Amino acid sequence: MKRDFGPQVVLENPAFIHDTALVYGKVHVAEGASLWPYVVIRSEMFEVRIGKRSNVQDFVMIHVGSGSPTIIGENCSITHHCTIHGAEIGDNCLIGINSTIMDGAKIGANCIIAGHSIVTEGTVIPDNSIVAGAPAKVIKSRDNRVANAMNAAFYYENAKAYAMGEHRIAEQAAFKAAMEAELAALTG
Ligand SMILES: CC(C)(COP(=O)(O)OP(=O)(O)OC[C@H]1O[C@@H](n2cnc3c(N)ncnc32)[C@H](O)[C@@H]1OP(=O)(O)O)[C@@H](O)C(=O)NCCC(=O)NCCS
Repeated sequence: MKRDFGPQVVLENPAFIHDTALVYGKVHVAEGASLWPYVVIRSEMFEVRIGKRSNVQDFVMIHVGSGSPTIIGENCSITHHCTIHGAEIGDNCLIGINSTIMDGAKIGANCIIAGHSIVTEGTVIPDNSIVAGAPAKVIKSRDNRVANAMNAAFYYENAKAYAMGEHRIAEQAAFKAAMEAELAALTG
């Protein structure tokens, strides 16, 4: 079923939008992206953008900031229960469970934000960082591009399956083959 969230919500062929996802205002969801159960996205000003093949997992809340949009790059995983509020997240990032990213924060590409981190207003995180704590700090530098892109690939394949009503694809040979092909393409 094609959802209609209003005139400024652009769904550019996403892989999966769960029926319980709520999207308001000016929001762009790019090709292959997915919105999982009970996602809420609101954008009364500025805009929210979700990049290609990024997944926004169960119970995530995304809002614009008081002075900033929310821009999420490609191949990102915004995992369960995160709050992203007026922040920018680069390509190939994994935002760990229950993290909060506040207004004006900018997360570089290929980063992992540890579960339950709070990235405070205006914090700038360089590419290839592992970040943890409240307030969050860089605890390690490591290029997480392949691992994070693989997580996004897992969600992309899973999202396409969910869109067809299939909830157990991870156990199927075709899924495993798709993951192997993805890994070869990323590391090739
Ligand atoms: C941050 C993370 C990537 C670290 O993993 P790692 O690279 O294997 O590193 P380690 O487990 O050796 O931990 C490195 C340090 O970070 C600390 N750390 C790990 N997770 C942390 C967290 N959530 N908050 C604060 N500190 C954390 C460890 O205690 C360790 O500290 P030390 O060096 O003083 O001993 C991992 O713990 C994590 O949170 N991943 C995201 C998990 C997640 O939410 N996945 C989504 C599933 S849908």
